[in-house]
Amino acid sequence: MHFQARISAATWAIQKKENGTWHHGKGGRAIAPGNKGFLKRIHDSAWAWNLFQGPVYNRLIFKAAADYFDAVISLAGKGALTRILDVGAGGGVVSLRLAKANPDAAVVGIDYALRQVRAANRLKRKEQVLNCAFQQGNAMALPFLEASFDRVVSINSIKHWPDPAQGLSEIRRVLRPRGQAFISEADRSASPEELLAFSENYRAWYIWGALMRWILRNVVFGKSYTASELKTIAGRAGFSDTIIQVAPGPFFLLVLTK
Ligand SMILES: C[S@@+](CC[C@H](N)C(=O)[O-])C[C@H]1O[C@@H](n2cnc3c(N)ncnc32)[C@H](O)[C@@H]1O
Repeated sequence: MHFQARISAATWAIQKKENGTWHHGKGGRAIAPGNKGFLKRIHDSAWAWNLFQGPVYNRLIFKAAADYFDAVISLAGKGALTRILDVGAGGGVVSLRLAKANPDAAVVGIDYALRQVRAANRLKRKEQVLNCAFQQGNAMALPFLEASFDRVVSINSIKHWPDPAQGLSEIRRVLRPRGQAFISEADRSASPEELLAFSENYRAWYIWGALMRWILRNVVFGKSYTASELKTIAGRAGFSDTIIQVAPGPFFLLVLTK
């Protein structure tokens, strides 16, 4: 597959696991969309992102997982791109980096939490990036015409969506034919060792380390998906051409072609 060849040529070490099989850590239990516990529903709500999750995530994650972001952004931003959509754009770092790497492209970042959109707009002004815009919007009903993007990117957001198949079919709708979506997420089957190493980087004076480790293990990663689960969901959304990649750290990347 031609895209596979391009990926192999990428300078960073990202490997394909055959048949979507993964190293087995804590994983196992499939998550039925909509069947969420109390903590998970809080974790996924727009007000939690507005109130505390957004600011904490935006401050810590790019330091904790710098290799991962470098890798995914450099892959997702490759190609002759004219319109890029970032779904669940958060504080805007990913969209802005994609915009800077593709000065001829127009990048749009959407997020359903208004405070995240405001934070992204502040960063855009600070960095003076002109080819990027942020707006409020829900992944469940993307406010765009069909076939209006040649690339869609979504990093660490899909596990919060109430219906991931609906979100992915919306992404498929707004992609042009043969357009690609790069969907990355925390890997629920990451090993305890990987999670511990990651949580060591996810530190700040205002966070109690043991609580943060518990949340990362049981909520952030523990209630996420495995790559093969998300691949199955992508199939339900109409994507048949799907490649699973291992990203650096306890994350995976799905490359979906319309
Ligand atoms: C973990 S953050 C990731 C932000 C950004 N992609 C990054 O990696 O820096 C997840 C983001 O997804 C957003 N989000 C969650 N559910 C959403 C939905 N249904 N529609 C749009 N955005 C959503 C949250 O508000 C949050 O900003």
